[in-house]
Amino acid sequence: MRILAIETSCDETSVSIVDIDDTHYTILAHSIWSQIHLHKEFGGVFPAVAQRAHAEHLPKMITQALFDAGYPIGTKTSGNSLDTSLMAPFLERYPETQAHLERDLAHTEIPDIDALAVTYGPGLEPALWVGISVAQALSVLWNIPLIPVNHMEGHIASAYIPNLEHGMRHKRMPCIYPACALLISGGHTEFVEMHAHNQFRVIGATRDDAVGEAFDKVARLIGLPYPGGPHIEKAAGQAGVLDDISFPRPMLHTQDFDMSFSGLKTAVRYFVQDIHGTITDTLKGSIARAFQDAVTDVLATKTKRVCETYHPQTFIVAGGVSANTHIKDALIQTIHAYNPKCTVIFPPKALATDNALMIACAAYDAYMRGDHTRINPITADGNLALG
Ligand code: KG4
Ligand code: ZN
Repeated sequence: MRILAIETSCDETSVSIVDIDDTHYTILAHSIWSQIHLHKEFGGVFPAVAQRAHAEHLPKMITQALFDAGYPIGTKTSGNSLDTSLMAPFLERYPETQAHLERDLAHTEIPDIDALAVTYGPGLEPALWVGISVAQALSVLWNIPLIPVNHMEGHIASAYIPNLEHGMRHKRMPCIYPACALLISGGHTEFVEMHAHNQFRVIGATRDDAVGEAFDKVARLIGLPYPGGPHIEKAAGQAGVLDDISFPRPMLHTQDFDMSFSGLKTAVRYFVQDIHGTITDTLKGSIARAFQDAVTDVLATKTKRVCETYHPQTFIVAGGVSANTHIKDALIQTIHAYNPKCTVIFPPKALATDNALMIACAAYDAYMRGDHTRINPITADGNLALG
């Protein structure tokens, strides 16, 4: 099945075209445009800025994806041009996006794509609406189905895509059940149980801040740029041995799979407030390392509890924070200490943060269970839950 997928839930605009079935996939086109530089000065994602940037970039990325996948643009000679006025009702709020798509697609043959896919939540609703509106417009223009995708299912599906080489047929990473997933992103931190393909049940989650959010806030406290995760990891990696800084590990020993990170962030804030004078790079490194150690300890301890309770055969760790090598090593060690035969899957680093490839993969699975007909009409749901 050939799917064109669109992701606009936060601060990455992404478009992919993938040929996919139950066991294999071929990437025909894939691009991610990051808006991080636009949000840096706000220290976080600014929804109105994100919406405008998605609306500006999405049409040209779709045209480029079609071109990359081998569909000639603007060369339609047979018959009339496509009736692009069909797109108008969906794109009223984005006149420039509409004009761009009309210009590029009116004289472009309908591509042999079987379905469109788009993230409809969770995420920033103004950002989600851009992708949904454009996907709906294309669905009507080309008369092909549109599959709405839960962004967190997308992050889980990123683990099934081990190889990013374009144009080659790759094997999907198989998932053996029972399986569990730990999703650690900027907006979410949750453990998920999966008994069969596409059956998701959240078994534990953060009660306040997401891990990525805590990384971003702590980075800001010690003067590191947004998004904080990679900068904290780098600073922590350069730190020496810590004997005098240690931060709390909230909810470490509670008899559940829930977590809390806001107290940890507050502990870092108090620590920073007590520093008189400037924070040296050495001290920054020590704080970053002590913070990262505390997060890792909580995630590893809760992961151990999940393994002991659910006995997973496959353990998936996904979301932006899964790119953190320190956390990755600790989690692999924890899971293998419990069961050396458990397959631990992390997505390739390039797919840890938001992308449309994972949306295409999750869309295929959702399509196979008939979701695209259940969710109608498609509306953005910023708080969409998993399962
Ligand atoms: O999954 P994602 O792209 O967006 C959401 O769906 O939220 O995750 C972004 C988050 C940010 O908070 C960023 O700081 C964090 O992932 N992140 C990291 C690393 N790379 C990205 N956190 C820790 N270590 C990293 N290397
Ligand atoms: Zn995400």
